[in-house]
Amino acid sequence: MTLPVAHFDPFAGAPRLHGAARVGIRPGTELIHPLAATGERPLRFAVGGLPSGLTVDDEGIVRGLAPAEPGTHELDVRVENALGAATQRVELVVGDILCLTPPLGWNSWNVYAHEISADIVVRTAEAMVATGMRDLGYQYVNIDDHWHAPERLAGGRPAADPVRFPEGIAAVAERVHALGLKLGVYSDAAHLTCGNCFGGHGYERIDAEAYAEWGVDLLKYDWCYAPKDRASAVERYGTMRRALDATDRSIVLSVCEWGIRKPWRWAGDLGASYWRTTNDIFDTFGWSPLGVLGIARRNLRLASYAGPGRWNDPDMLLVGNRGRGLSTSVLRTPNSWPKPVRGRAFWRFGGLDDTQAQTHLSLWVMMAAPLLASHDLTDDDPASSRDVDRALLTNPDVLAIDQDALGRQGRLAASPRGTWTVVKPLTEGRVAVSVTNLRKRPRTVQVRVADVAGSASAHVRDAWAMADLGVQTELVADLPGHGTAMFVCTPTPQQH
Ligand code: GLA
Repeated sequence: MTLPVAHFDPFAGAPRLHGAARVGIRPGTELIHPLAATGERPLRFAVGGLPSGLTVDDEGIVRGLAPAEPGTHELDVRVENALGAATQRVELVVGDILCLTPPLGWNSWNVYAHEISADIVVRTAEAMVATGMRDLGYQYVNIDDHWHAPERLAGGRPAADPVRFPEGIAAVAERVHALGLKLGVYSDAAHLTCGNCFGGHGYERIDAEAYAEWGVDLLKYDWCYAPKDRASAVERYGTMRRALDATDRSIVLSVCEWGIRKPWRWAGDLGASYWRTTNDIFDTFGWSPLGVLGIARRNLRLASYAGPGRWNDPDMLLVGNRGRGLSTSVLRTPNSWPKPVRGRAFWRFGGLDDTQAQTHLSLWVMMAAPLLASHDLTDDDPASSRDVDRALLTNPDVLAIDQDALGRQGRLAASPRGTWTVVKPLTEGRVAVSVTNLRKRPRTVQVRVADVAGSASAHVRDAWAMADLGVQTELVADLPGHGTAMFVCTPTPQQH
């Protein structure tokens, strides 16, 4: 038994707009923003209310310099093709807060680890366009650890590995930006990164200036080799945030200290857009601290700390790796970390099956998590089941739940044993509800609309199937083992 998952074709049908309804940018900095539209090509875009300095190109990418003054601009986005038209109101919020909705994109780590190269980054960005992921709202292409040259240049300037990034990071940024996407890099708040490349501590200003010059849009800042205490973390992440703010770019800061110093209490106030809440994820579904359910259980408790511009990050997605990710399939344990694999030199993870991958993504969406795919987007071998993976990652109804402008993280509601019901309030009084079967055996779970949506009945849509179920008083989830159903409920007016 598998759950019905719609296969949405981003290049067919009448136009639809999928981009976030609220977009943050710092005053006077470069904006590269894909409007994210699907439908039969060609598409024609028009944007009303665009501040001077910004234009929209034929691909629907808004480019230019954001207004110099803080303030909110209402953009009226319209897209048409031979089959029809769609419109969307987008708020461009010029101010200090970036990532008003969780970032969507890709990160190199889970799949490529130390083998990342300019060639892979550019081919991944091209694949993000070719697969329609950009048109569904994915924007960031993030290079994780190991982009670095063996040493800094004389004078301390950072430089990229001359073999794997022969033309440097700026050339990669140019290619990525030309596709309407954004580029992220990685560093560490100590003298070394986790992979023993040079770190950023003491070089914050030099690094931030170089990143801005290269055209970098996001920095993931790690915590290996850094002090244990929280005060140092607040200080070092704060120093990097200020250095990034002193540049002329909007650069997102992603905090990665694995949730050890409770970053949900301080990282948002520092101006970080999201922070890791757990250990690194590995390609396994279970309850261990490095499995999907173990990580989700921990991140679910932190719902009250998330909001627009500040997100809990339960780590990257495993969808599509299927036990083949370079850093997620094998855990070497020289120091017997973490506990579940003590006594073994390594542990091999076989990956998630289709249903588990669908639950993994469902939970991340319900938790308003950053959705950073981390598999080989360029793989065109049909034997690797990429149709399913793509269907999972490009379902517009599902992505819209993650990207909802209210910015609320879902909370666990009372659930029968062996299940999780997660409830996420959405804009316009709507509510997303997911029901997960934590066990291996299939089961049917009923949830009363009155218990989750604040009204006796609701118009219900099955997000994964992209199907309207009409007005219902009960959500009925027919779940395979480890499966998740996701519904969007629009409460119907109460009868008196
Ligand atoms: C740490 C981080 C990972 C990844 C690696 C890179 O383990 O938590 O996400 O960035 O470092 O070395």
